[in-house]
Amino acid sequence: MDTPNSSGDLLEQSATFGAMTEGTAMDWKIIAAHNQQLAADVATRVIDHLKLLEGDHGGFAVDRLEHSLQTATRAYRANKSDEYVVCALLHDIGDTLGSYNHPDIAVAILKPFVSEEHLWMVEKHGIFQGYNFFHYLGLDRNMRDQFQGHPAYDLTVEFCQEFDQTAFDPKYDSMPLSDFVPAVEALLAEPKNSIYLKDDGRMPGGDL
Ligand SMILES: [Fe+2]
Ligand SMILES: [Fe+2]
Repeated sequence: MDTPNSSGDLLEQSATFGAMTEGTAMDWKIIAAHNQQLAADVATRVIDHLKLLEGDHGGFAVDRLEHSLQTATRAYRANKSDEYVVCALLHDIGDTLGSYNHPDIAVAILKPFVSEEHLWMVEKHGIFQGYNFFHYLGLDRNMRDQFQGHPAYDLTVEFCQEFDQTAFDPKYDSMPLSDFVPAVEALLAEPKNSIYLKDDGRMPGGDL
């Protein structure tokens, strides 16, 4: 049976303030409980958003979902870590929203959960991938050179050359999206970097 402030009870309630300056500790206990429940399902929403890439070829031989699956599959078959494989799966998830800066969308999603090196790899993959085609568009294919000496430079070159730029092959046998869901769920269940984490590393509401 729920006690008055247990999480089940809190999820039945809403804060009563109309302006945050009127908020109380109880209001924020209620909101934290709701947020905890919402955050627990973030992986499902990320996967649903990734599916929006299906059917969008953008002039390529495969659609953007297949490109994402192929990039992740190639990384998985090269024995990369689960964190790396999830980065590979999600690196272009921003194609639907960030037409002029798509890597930044993946960065925003992954930032609480991955290492600095992997985050930098995802953030800079747009520039590093340009080595393979910028010269066809009147751009500088060597734009990546400005980052020479960065600790994640070689990691990002490898990601683009081994897994990303090779992932447009209509004949490749990519793994299905369902095979990657457990790794996405596991990674997105444990935020390590967020302004909302308390000193004990837990999210507010997580102790309810
Ligand atoms: Fe990309
Ligand atoms: Fe890509």
